Amino acid sequence: MNRKKTQLCSTDTDLLLDADRRANRYLAEIADMDVFPKELARSALSRFDEDVPENGFDTFETLSLLDDIGSPGTVASNGSRYFGFVIGATIPVAAAAQRMMLAWDQCASSYTNSPSADVIEKVAARWILDILDLPRESGVTFGTSASSSTLVCLATARRTLLLRKNWNQDIRGLSGAPEIRVVISEKVHVTVRKALRVLGFGEQDMVVAPVDEKGRIDPSKLPHLDEMTILCLQAGEVNTGNFDPFPPLMEVAKAANAWVHVDGAFGLWARAAPTKRRLTDGVELANSWTTDGHKWLNTPYDGAVGICRDRHALADAMNSDADYSSASAESQKNLGIEFSRSARGIPFWAVLRSLGRTGVAAMIERHCALAEYVADALAEAGFNLLTRPVLNQVLFSFGSSAETAQIQSLVAAKGKVWFGMTVWNEAPAMRISISSWRTVTHDVDLLISELKAAAQVVRSAG
Ligand SMILES: Cc1ncc(COP(=O)(O)O)c(C=O)c1O
Repeated sequence: MNRKKTQLCSTDTDLLLDADRRANRYLAEIADMDVFPKELARSALSRFDEDVPENGFDTFETLSLLDDIGSPGTVASNGSRYFGFVIGATIPVAAAAQRMMLAWDQCASSYTNSPSADVIEKVAARWILDILDLPRESGVTFGTSASSSTLVCLATARRTLLLRKNWNQDIRGLSGAPEIRVVISEKVHVTVRKALRVLGFGEQDMVVAPVDEKGRIDPSKLPHLDEMTILCLQAGEVNTGNFDPFPPLMEVAKAANAWVHVDGAFGLWARAAPTKRRLTDGVELANSWTTDGHKWLNTPYDGAVGICRDRHALADAMNSDADYSSASAESQKNLGIEFSRSARGIPFWAVLRSLGRTGVAAMIERHCALAEYVADALAEAGFNLLTRPVLNQVLFSFGSSAETAQIQSLVAAKGKVWFGMTVWNEAPAMRISISSWRTVTHDVDLLISELKAAAQVVRSAG
């Protein structure tokens, strides 16, 4: 490579070195941090509440404020003791790749904007289809989240179904358009509902498919489907990790020629793990899928993919060619929402390249095994398991609804570990998610002992 020896201005280099030094210190200290910041750290955040600076502050002082006050106010979700929502940490190679991306500062819209980004993201897309074993001819959009990727997939679905009735939405809009039925699970994730709402589907028009006691669509109660129906299924329900039964549902959907979209924000990665893969059997027959990198693959935010079996349908729905900026249908600006965007596929590439197929499988399997381990320990300690773990989620309660909530607050207040509350069968429940590549047995042992200690407090008070 013909690279000139250019010297950065030493203050610029020093500033970036200072940021690296501070970031490394933060990561070194994360093992001992409060997982949720205590009141003192949170109240110090008022220090950011400044008026717009007239003349600007010193850059080093700005970085120092960000670190000295900002770092203690963070949630240690990049550590090993955070069990809330479904929030992965960041694998260092992905953080390192992102560090390079910041130096590059590419607008990763097309090959013309960034040959490197375009080539690497295409490789990442190919690898994702391969590891998830989804149709290799699919189009892949790298979005910021499962929410935005679902929006892209569902917009593509609607446009495609309307074309079946010779209705070109790009020309004629939606007023007077043929009706589209949307069928969702009773346990659909709120962000799928949101994507549908944003696309103009009213809540009252969404047909709800009843679920069984585990939160999976009951195939015997599946509402009518036809060629103008979008059916939204789930690979990994957010509380339990359960999967809709794809084989029987796909059989009906395929016979009806409905469009099937699968929300697999975290659960789709089960497909990469040999002992869990059977849960996803049949999922490959869908028309579109979404999954996140920033959850279970442990890439940084904002990293997700929307995948459409019909790559041309995706490219036609998302095309944003302009006179001054036309590009191939395979360009990311023609596959997703943004015109200008970062190369979000690069952290996927870095993680997949460094873990390989076996490394991804090992991480998923390990988290699932830890979830089983936690569930067994909690059952033995007198907690109520609300369902056996299917993947990496543990859903449980303790005594009454009030006692359940009390346990969660007692554990959270101590700051050693953190997990959140949810609602299951109309009652409050505690939910643990094991999603961080950093989490090992030692961390879940701490989690279990914190829960037992809280249970002891609640028992002796009652
Ligand atoms: C099952 C499921 N679907 C969709 C989402 C939304 O994902 P994102 O936060 O990336 O938009 C989540 C997030 O928790 C989820 O668990």
